[in-house]
Amino acid sequence: MSNKERNMSAYIENTVEEIRQQVGGNRVLLGLSGGVDSAVCAALLNRAIGRQLTCVFVDHGLLRLNEREEVEQVFLPLLGENLVMVDAAARFLAKLAGVTDPETKRKIIGHEFIEVFREAALAGGELGFLAQGTIYPDVLESGVGAKLVKSHHNVGGLPKDLPFLGVVEPLRPLYKNEVRLLGEELGLPQEMVWRQPFPGPGLGIRVIGDITWEKLEILRQADAIFRQEMAKPENKILASQFFAVLTGLRSVGISNNERNYGYTIALRAVKTIDFMTAEWVRLPYELLDTLSSRIISEVGQVNRVVYDITSKPPASIEWE
Ligand code: XMP
Repeated sequence: MSNKERNMSAYIENTVEEIRQQVGGNRVLLGLSGGVDSAVCAALLNRAIGRQLTCVFVDHGLLRLNEREEVEQVFLPLLGENLVMVDAAARFLAKLAGVTDPETKRKIIGHEFIEVFREAALAGGELGFLAQGTIYPDVLESGVGAKLVKSHHNVGGLPKDLPFLGVVEPLRPLYKNEVRLLGEELGLPQEMVWRQPFPGPGLGIRVIGDITWEKLEILRQADAIFRQEMAKPENKILASQFFAVLTGLRSVGISNNERNYGYTIALRAVKTIDFMTAEWVRLPYELLDTLSSRIISEVGQVNRVVYDITSKPPASIEWE
């Protein structure tokens, strides 16, 4: 069936039936990341098997402002105590202390994620099935011949050695846009369904160089301001993805007649269809001005804001 023709309510009806047949009375475990795919997968599984589903959300401390709360708001009413929030920030930060190489950071985060998920899975008692929000492009990308530029897509990978009864992947035939439509049909909030992509290693690859809690807090504040401004109706459609980066650079500034030595925040906004290539967005000067003023006045320790005017290629979308 073609992309456009797929009827989401029929898809739900059929898939709900298939899930029930596959898992029977067994438990199903799903890792929720806050991203679109796992959220839609959770909503669909919940529709099929209710509280036979347990979702584990790993808070690695590299999340954006309020991200964890937003997940809780949507899924706590559906899952109750079957929504397991794991507070693992201290653990991730300890492993990441002093690490500056981007690929090493990704590997540490990916590895620690699997460990935390494994512990949460085992703590939950009987294992049952493992659900995954795999979508069709993931199936294609993990195929042979895909060239590794960054070790991206293995973050959020799950333990392969746990004795699950099987894997449930109810989104496997769907493209991203279909997953979003499915999410709408299942009644998930618009902000969750139409979210921009957010990398698995989170803010860990947007704090350039070594990561500390203090730097993460600075970045969270700056990023939240950027998101607030971009959420305004006139700005909503400008970019496919946008974010702030806490560069490793500090520079001299002046405020209240005193010299200071603060961080530089870089802002990036790109327009793209497939994220393989992307064009930097010509954000209006007025908007850039508002962003710069707000970030400098509202976020401590930042005294300079720059805007990234590089397309992909040659630059990647993320800075690390
Ligand atoms: P790049 O930086 O490679 O990003 O141009 C392309 C898209 O992939 C996202 N991205 C990641 N997603 N884990 C992820 O799950 C990662 O390690 C990762 N690195 C980049 C990026 O946000 C963009 O949408």
